[in-house]
Amino acid sequence: MPKIVRAACVIGWPVEHSRSPLIHNYWIKQLGLNAEYRREAVRPEDFAAFVARLAERGYVGANVTIPHKEAALALSKPDARAQAVGAANTLWLDGETLRSTNTDVEGFLANLDVSVPGWDRGLSNAVVLGAGGAARAIVYGLIDRGIGTIRVANRTFERAEELRKMFGAPVKSAHWDEIAGLLAGTDLFVNATSLGMAGHPPLDIRMEDLPPSAVVADIVYVPLTTPLLAEAKERGLRTADGLGMLLHQAVRGFSLWFGKTPEVTAELRKLVEADLVRKS
Ligand code: ATR
Repeated sequence: MPKIVRAACVIGWPVEHSRSPLIHNYWIKQLGLNAEYRREAVRPEDFAAFVARLAERGYVGANVTIPHKEAALALSKPDARAQAVGAANTLWLDGETLRSTNTDVEGFLANLDVSVPGWDRGLSNAVVLGAGGAARAIVYGLIDRGIGTIRVANRTFERAEELRKMFGAPVKSAHWDEIAGLLAGTDLFVNATSLGMAGHPPLDIRMEDLPPSAVVADIVYVPLTTPLLAEAKERGLRTADGLGMLLHQAVRGFSLWFGKTPEVTAELRKLVEADLVRKS
Protein backbone atom coordinates (compact mmCIF):
# COMPACT_ATOMS: atom_id res chain seq x y z
CA MET A 1 0.00 0.00 0.00
CA PRO A 2 1.40 3.45 -0.87
CA LYS A 3 2.31 5.60 2.09
CA ILE A 4 -0.07 8.52 2.64
CA VAL A 5 1.89 11.67 3.30
CA ARG A 6 0.13 14.69 4.76
CA ALA A 7 1.52 17.75 3.06
CA ALA A 8 1.34 21.50 3.53
CA CYS A 9 3.20 24.32 1.82
CA VAL A 10 4.00 28.01 1.82
CA ILE A 11 2.56 29.89 -1.12
CA GLY A 12 4.25 33.13 -2.14
CA TRP A 13 5.66 35.13 -5.03
CA PRO A 14 8.60 35.16 -4.57
CA VAL A 15 8.85 32.37 -2.00
CA GLU A 16 12.54 31.31 -1.94
CA HIS A 17 13.29 33.55 1.06
CA SER A 18 10.63 31.88 3.24
CA ARG A 19 11.96 30.14 6.36
CA SER A 20 8.68 28.28 6.89
CA PRO A 21 9.95 25.03 5.25
CA LEU A 22 12.94 25.00 7.61
CA ILE A 23 10.69 25.45 10.63
CA HIS A 24 7.94 22.98 9.71
CA ASN A 25 10.28 20.28 8.40
CA TYR A 26 12.27 20.51 11.65
CA TRP A 27 9.07 19.83 13.61
CA ILE A 28 8.00 17.03 11.24
CA LYS A 29 11.34 15.32 11.80
CA GLN A 30 11.36 15.96 15.52
CA LEU A 31 7.87 14.48 15.94
CA GLY A 32 8.56 11.61 13.52
CA LEU A 33 5.53 12.40 11.33
CA ASN A 34 4.85 11.04 7.88
CA ALA A 35 4.45 14.55 6.47
CA GLU A 36 6.04 17.10 4.19
CA TYR A 37 6.15 20.88 3.95
CA ARG A 38 7.06 22.48 0.62
CA ARG A 39 7.50 25.82 -1.10
CA GLU A 40 5.10 26.81 -3.88
CA ALA A 41 5.93 29.82 -6.04
CA VAL A 42 2.56 31.01 -7.33
CA ARG A 43 1.98 34.19 -9.35
CA PRO A 44 -0.79 36.51 -8.10
CA GLU A 45 -2.92 35.77 -11.19
CA ASP A 46 -2.69 32.02 -10.50
CA PHE A 47 -3.37 32.12 -6.76
CA ALA A 48 -7.17 31.61 -6.86
CA ALA A 49 -6.86 28.56 -9.13
CA PHE A 50 -4.08 27.14 -6.96
CA VAL A 51 -6.01 27.29 -3.70
CA ALA A 52 -9.21 26.03 -5.39
CA ARG A 53 -7.31 22.80 -6.09
CA LEU A 54 -5.32 22.58 -2.86
CA ALA A 55 -6.71 19.14 -1.95
CA GLU A 56 -6.15 17.79 -5.47
CA ARG A 57 -2.55 18.90 -5.18
CA GLY A 58 -2.28 16.76 -2.07
CA TYR A 59 -2.29 19.57 0.50
CA VAL A 60 -4.20 19.72 3.78
CA GLY A 61 -3.37 23.40 4.15
CA ALA A 62 -0.86 26.15 3.55
CA ASN A 63 0.85 29.24 4.78
CA VAL A 64 0.38 32.29 2.65
CA THR A 65 2.94 35.02 2.30
CA ILE A 66 3.49 38.16 0.24
CA PRO A 67 1.56 39.12 -1.90
CA HIS A 68 -1.32 36.70 -1.31
CA LYS A 69 -2.56 37.41 2.23
CA GLU A 70 -5.56 39.56 1.24
CA ALA A 71 -6.55 37.18 -1.58
CA ALA A 72 -6.30 34.24 0.84
CA LEU A 73 -8.79 35.99 3.10
CA ALA A 74 -11.21 36.65 0.25
CA LEU A 75 -11.06 33.08 -1.06
CA SER A 76 -11.64 31.30 2.27
CA LYS A 77 -13.89 31.23 5.32
CA PRO A 78 -11.87 33.38 7.76
CA ASP A 79 -12.08 33.27 11.55
CA ALA A 80 -12.72 36.45 13.55
CA ARG A 81 -9.06 37.44 13.81
CA ALA A 82 -8.24 37.05 10.12
CA GLN A 83 -11.39 39.03 9.35
CA ALA A 84 -10.44 41.79 11.80
CA VAL A 85 -6.82 41.94 10.64
CA GLY A 86 -7.91 41.95 6.98
CA ALA A 87 -5.34 39.32 5.99
CA ALA A 88 -4.96 35.53 6.29
CA ASN A 89 -1.58 33.79 6.58
CA THR A 90 -2.77 30.24 7.31
CA LEU A 91 -5.22 28.11 5.33
CA TRP A 92 -6.56 24.66 6.15
CA LEU A 93 -9.15 22.33 4.71
CA ASP A 94 -11.98 21.51 7.07
CA GLY A 95 -13.75 18.83 5.04
CA GLU A 96 -14.54 20.63 1.78
CA THR A 97 -14.33 24.08 3.34
CA LEU A 98 -11.18 26.15 2.99
CA ARG A 99 -10.78 28.03 6.26
CA SER A 100 -8.28 30.70 7.27
CA THR A 101 -6.79 32.49 10.22
CA ASN A 102 -4.05 34.97 11.02
CA THR A 103 -1.36 33.55 13.29
CA ASP A 104 0.73 36.75 13.41
CA VAL A 105 -1.55 37.81 16.27
CA GLU A 106 -0.57 34.96 18.59
CA GLY A 107 2.96 34.87 17.18
CA PHE A 108 3.50 38.40 18.44
CA LEU A 109 1.84 37.78 21.82
CA ALA A 110 3.43 34.37 22.51
CA ASN A 111 6.88 35.72 21.68
CA LEU A 112 6.41 38.57 24.16
CA ASP A 113 5.09 36.12 26.78
CA VAL A 114 8.24 34.01 26.42
CA SER A 115 10.80 36.81 25.92
CA VAL A 116 9.45 39.21 28.55
CA PRO A 117 7.33 37.21 31.02
CA GLY A 118 4.63 39.36 32.60
CA TRP A 119 5.09 42.11 30.00
CA ASP A 120 1.38 42.99 29.93
CA ARG A 121 0.90 43.25 33.69
CA GLY A 122 -0.16 46.84 34.35
CA LEU A 123 0.77 47.87 30.83
CA SER A 124 -1.45 50.67 29.62
CA ASN A 125 0.28 52.58 26.81
CA ALA A 126 1.70 51.11 23.63
CA VAL A 127 3.10 52.73 20.49
CA VAL A 128 2.95 50.75 17.25
CA LEU A 129 4.81 52.04 14.20
CA GLY A 130 3.26 51.00 10.89
CA ALA A 131 -0.22 50.37 9.57
CA GLY A 132 0.20 47.36 7.24
CA GLY A 133 -0.95 43.78 7.82
CA ALA A 134 1.64 43.11 10.52
CA ALA A 135 0.67 46.26 12.43
CA ARG A 136 -3.02 45.33 12.24
CA ALA A 137 -2.31 41.86 13.66
CA ILE A 138 -0.31 43.40 16.52
CA VAL A 139 -2.97 45.99 17.31
CA TYR A 140 -5.61 43.24 17.33
CA GLY A 141 -3.49 41.23 19.78
CA LEU A 142 -2.84 44.19 22.06
CA ILE A 143 -6.55 45.02 22.23
CA ASP A 144 -7.20 41.35 23.03
CA ARG A 145 -4.82 41.64 25.99
CA GLY A 146 -6.70 44.70 27.22
CA ILE A 147 -4.03 47.35 26.55
CA GLY A 148 -5.80 50.65 27.24
CA THR A 149 -4.20 52.99 24.70
CA ILE A 150 -2.45 52.01 21.49
CA ARG A 151 -0.98 54.87 19.50
CA VAL A 152 -0.45 53.96 15.88
CA ALA A 153 2.05 56.14 14.02
CA ASN A 154 2.55 55.70 10.31
CA ARG A 155 4.47 57.51 7.58
CA THR A 156 1.19 57.75 5.65
CA PHE A 157 -1.07 59.19 8.34
CA GLU A 158 -4.30 58.20 6.54
CA ARG A 159 -3.44 54.51 7.01
CA ALA A 160 -3.04 55.06 10.78
CA GLU A 161 -6.44 56.75 10.71
CA GLU A 162 -7.90 53.70 8.97
CA LEU A 163 -6.67 51.53 11.85
CA ARG A 164 -8.23 53.86 14.39
CA LYS A 165 -11.56 53.66 12.59
CA MET A 166 -11.26 49.90 12.20
CA PHE A 167 -10.41 49.05 15.81
CA GLY A 168 -12.16 51.88 17.69
CA ALA A 169 -11.59 53.37 21.13
CA PRO A 170 -8.22 51.94 22.31
CA VAL A 171 -6.48 53.07 19.11
CA LYS A 172 -5.28 56.63 18.58
CA SER A 173 -3.59 57.68 15.37
CA ALA A 174 -0.40 59.72 15.32
CA HIS A 175 1.69 61.47 12.71
CA TRP A 176 5.20 60.14 12.04
CA ASP A 177 6.82 63.34 13.37
CA GLU A 178 4.95 62.99 16.68
CA ILE A 179 6.70 59.73 17.68
CA ALA A 180 9.54 61.31 19.68
CA GLY A 181 6.99 63.19 21.81
CA LEU A 182 5.10 59.97 22.66
CA LEU A 183 8.03 58.00 24.05
CA ALA A 184 8.11 59.30 27.64
CA GLY A 185 4.73 57.73 28.46
CA THR A 186 5.19 54.49 26.53
CA ASP A 187 5.33 51.04 28.18
CA LEU A 188 5.62 49.06 24.94
CA PHE A 189 7.21 50.29 21.71
CA VAL A 190 6.73 48.14 18.59
CA ASN A 191 8.25 48.50 15.14
CA ALA A 192 5.83 46.94 12.64
CA THR A 193 7.38 48.65 9.59
CA SER A 194 10.12 47.40 7.29
CA LEU A 195 12.55 50.00 8.69
CA GLY A 196 15.71 48.41 10.06
CA MET A 197 15.48 45.42 7.71
CA ALA A 198 18.59 44.62 5.66
CA GLY A 199 18.47 46.79 2.54
CA HIS A 200 16.03 49.28 4.11
CA PRO A 201 16.81 52.49 6.00
CA PRO A 202 17.12 52.19 9.81
CA LEU A 203 14.43 53.49 12.12
CA ASP A 204 15.77 56.92 12.94
CA ILE A 205 14.31 57.40 16.41
CA ARG A 206 16.27 57.93 19.61
CA MET A 207 15.16 55.79 22.51
CA GLU A 208 16.38 57.99 25.38
CA ASP A 209 12.88 59.19 26.30
CA LEU A 210 11.46 55.70 26.77
CA PRO A 211 11.06 54.85 30.48
CA PRO A 212 13.59 52.27 31.81
CA SER A 213 10.72 49.82 32.36
CA ALA A 214 9.64 49.94 28.70
CA VAL A 215 9.58 46.89 26.43
CA VAL A 216 10.72 47.17 22.79
CA ALA A 217 9.60 44.71 20.10
CA ASP A 218 10.52 44.50 16.43
CA ILE A 219 8.93 42.44 13.66
CA VAL A 220 12.09 42.60 11.52
CA TYR A 221 14.33 39.50 11.78
CA VAL A 222 16.96 40.19 9.10
CA PRO A 223 19.21 41.23 10.80
CA LEU A 224 18.35 39.33 13.98
CA THR A 225 19.33 42.28 16.14
CA THR A 226 18.02 45.37 14.40
CA PRO A 227 19.52 48.78 15.20
CA LEU A 228 16.34 49.46 17.24
CA LEU A 229 16.80 46.33 19.37
CA ALA A 230 20.53 46.95 19.73
CA GLU A 231 19.89 50.43 21.10
CA ALA A 232 17.10 49.21 23.39
CA LYS A 233 19.39 46.49 24.81
CA GLU A 234 22.19 48.98 25.30
CA ARG A 235 19.80 51.07 27.37
CA GLY A 236 18.88 48.03 29.46
CA LEU A 237 15.32 47.82 28.09
CA ARG A 238 13.62 44.43 27.71
CA THR A 239 13.16 43.27 24.12
CA ALA A 240 11.36 40.76 21.89
CA ASP A 241 12.69 40.11 18.40
CA GLY A 242 11.16 39.35 15.02
CA LEU A 243 12.54 35.82 14.77
CA GLY A 244 10.67 34.82 17.94
CA MET A 245 7.45 36.12 16.41
CA LEU A 246 8.12 34.18 13.19
CA LEU A 247 8.69 30.93 15.10
CA HIS A 248 5.67 31.31 17.35
CA GLN A 249 3.31 32.24 14.52
CA ALA A 250 4.12 28.89 12.86
CA VAL A 251 2.80 26.72 15.71
CA ARG A 252 -0.95 26.79 15.04
CA GLY A 253 -0.74 26.07 11.32
CA PHE A 254 1.32 22.98 12.07
CA SER A 255 -1.15 21.71 14.63
CA LEU A 256 -4.12 22.40 12.31
CA TRP A 257 -2.52 20.43 9.44
CA PHE A 258 -0.71 17.66 11.23
CA GLY A 259 -2.65 17.24 14.49
CA LYS A 260 0.29 17.76 16.87
CA THR A 261 1.28 20.95 18.68
CA PRO A 262 4.99 21.58 18.14
CA GLU A 263 7.37 23.41 20.43
CA VAL A 264 9.51 26.46 19.73
CA THR A 265 12.80 25.13 21.06
CA ALA A 266 16.21 26.75 21.46
CA GLU A 267 17.49 24.22 18.91
CA LEU A 268 14.94 25.36 16.29
CA ARG A 269 15.85 28.97 16.91
CA LYS A 270 19.54 28.18 16.42
CA LEU A 271 18.76 26.36 13.17
CA VAL A 272 16.89 29.33 11.71
CA GLU A 273 19.47 31.81 13.04
CA ALA A 274 22.23 29.86 11.30
CA ASP A 275 20.27 29.92 8.05
CA LEU A 276 19.70 33.67 8.33
CA VAL A 277 23.39 34.26 8.97
CA ARG A 278 24.42 31.96 6.10
CA LYS A 279 22.17 33.72 3.59
CA SER A 280 22.76 37.31 4.69
P1 ATR B 1 3.02 44.45 6.01
O1 ATR B 1 1.71 43.92 5.54
O2 ATR B 1 4.12 43.42 6.08
O3 ATR B 1 2.90 45.19 7.32
P2 ATR B 1 2.99 46.81 4.28
O4 ATR B 1 1.51 46.82 4.20
O5 ATR B 1 3.76 47.05 3.04
O6 ATR B 1 3.54 45.43 4.85
O7 ATR B 1 3.43 47.85 5.41
C1 ATR B 1 4.74 48.28 5.56
C2 ATR B 1 4.76 49.35 6.65
O8 ATR B 1 6.11 49.91 6.69
C3 ATR B 1 3.83 50.52 6.36
O9 ATR B 1 3.33 51.00 7.59
C4 ATR B 1 4.77 51.53 5.70
O10 ATR B 1 4.34 52.87 5.78
P3 ATR B 1 3.34 53.49 4.66
O11 ATR B 1 1.97 53.03 5.04
O12 ATR B 1 3.51 54.96 4.77
O13 ATR B 1 3.82 52.94 3.33
C5 ATR B 1 6.01 51.32 6.52
N1 ATR B 1 7.23 51.82 5.84
C6 ATR B 1 7.87 51.27 4.78
N2 ATR B 1 8.96 52.02 4.42
C7 ATR B 1 8.97 53.08 5.28
C8 ATR B 1 9.84 54.21 5.44
N3 ATR B 1 10.90 54.41 4.64
N4 ATR B 1 9.55 55.10 6.44
C9 ATR B 1 8.49 54.90 7.27
N5 ATR B 1 7.64 53.85 7.15
C10 ATR B 1 7.87 52.95 6.19
